Amino acid sequence: MEKKEQLYEGKAKKVFATDDPNLVIVSYKDDATAFNGLKKGTISGKGVINNKMTNYMFGLLEKAGVPTHLVKELNDRETLVKKVSIVPLEVIVRNVAAGSFSKKLGIEEGTKLLCPTLEFSYKNDDLGDPFINDYYALALGLATKEEIDLISKYAFKVNEFMLDFFKKLNIDLIDFKIEFGKTSDGTIILADEISPDTCRFWDSTTHEKLDKDRFRRDMGGVEDAYAEIMKRLMGE
Ligand code: C5P
Repeated sequence: MEKKEQLYEGKAKKVFATDDPNLVIVSYKDDATAFNGLKKGTISGKGVINNKMTNYMFGLLEKAGVPTHLVKELNDRETLVKKVSIVPLEVIVRNVAAGSFSKKLGIEEGTKLLCPTLEFSYKNDDLGDPFINDYYALALGLATKEEIDLISKYAFKVNEFMLDFFKKLNIDLIDFKIEFGKTSDGTIILADEISPDTCRFWDSTTHEKLDKDRFRRDMGGVEDAYAEIMKRLMGE
């Protein structure tokens, strides 16, 4: 597989063309941003961890019935994936109140929710990824009703699988964000990443934060938190 020109550079990843029009190579960077790019920094080794963790989780989720863009891990930072057009929705599932949910609703962080929630943000950096509902997504043509239903079904399935999976590693899955893409034949598949950048992970015993909140909130121990997740997940 030949790596060709760069197609896109995002905040945490670059995407390169290949000699196959249906496949691209994603390359994970150590760059970290928060608050829609206002806070910038580096988390040393993050690209390697996020690449390996995403591929590991996507492999398990495929087996659990959620189709993903994963084709093959090429090296520590690069993975061959199916080319998709990203559905411009950030799909967020929450099990425990934290972050923007706690702030917006005045609910103490750590409060267990009675059932998981699902929300959408419109992926648009200029607007700061505003919160929208299904009707907005439909009215703006971001996805069809069928696609929204399928995305919602997959999101809850990912949550169900990951809650159970991380619990066995003594980690509480507080919330997470995922993104979906559409292949050239219109199939909706899980894309982007699943990592400490995009999930809130708290140690089940100590409630210590093992995710990007340590970077967002200047808590220190960022690299150690990412390494701890990786160790529990893959023994590395
Ligand atoms: O900030 P908020 O509480 O809305 O974040 C919910 C979840 O979505 C967190 O796990 C966070 O890491 C993730 N997220 C993300 N990318 C964003 C916004 C939120 O990965 N742009």
